[in-house]
Amino acid sequence: MVKDIVVYPDKRLKMVSDEVTEFNEELHMLLDDMYDTMVKKKGVGLAAIQIGIAKRVLIVNLPEDDGDDVAVNKEDTFEIINPVFTKLEGSCKNQEGCLSVPGFYEDVERAASIVMEYQNRHGEKKVLQNQDFLAIALQHEMDHLNGKVFVEKLSILKRKKFEKEWKKKQK
Ligand code: CO
Repeated sequence: MVKDIVVYPDKRLKMVSDEVTEFNEELHMLLDDMYDTMVKKKGVGLAAIQIGIAKRVLIVNLPEDDGDDVAVNKEDTFEIINPVFTKLEGSCKNQEGCLSVPGFYEDVERAASIVMEYQNRHGEKKVLQNQDFLAIALQHEMDHLNGKVFVEKLSILKRKKFEKEWKKKQK
C-alpha cells in the first residue's frame, strides 16, 4: 500500500530508528508498503522512518536502464534490516536527492567502498560489498536510520542556499 512520505523538516526525520527483533508478517507488510511507496514516488531508496515507522529497515532498488525503458523489478530490491557498516573506505562525490526533500539535489561526499552486514526479511544474516552507486544509496538510507537527512551533510554555504530555496518553495 502506498503511504505518505514524511517531508523535511518533519521532526520524525530526526528520530534514531529501533532495531528490528521480530521478523514477522508486520515486518513483511512494512517492506511491501515501503516498496509500493518508493516505486510510486519514483525513488531508488527508502527508509522506514520516511513513512513514519522508526525501525531499522531500508530498501534500495536501482532500476536497470535498458535504453528507453527503465525497468523496476521487485525481485531486484535490496531489503535491508538492522544494517551495520563493517567497512567504509575512500571517498567520492555524487549528486543526491531524497523523497523527503523533493525537488532538491546536491553533491554529497561519501565513502566510495562499503561492506555492510544486515538481516533479510526472514532474519537471516547477510553481507554485502559494493563500490558503486549502491554503496552511495546505502549510506544515504543508513543516515535516515540515524536521524539524518542528506542536506545536513552539506557545507554551511550550500546548506544556507538550500534553506533559502526550501523556504521559498513552501510558500
Ligand atoms: Co533520503
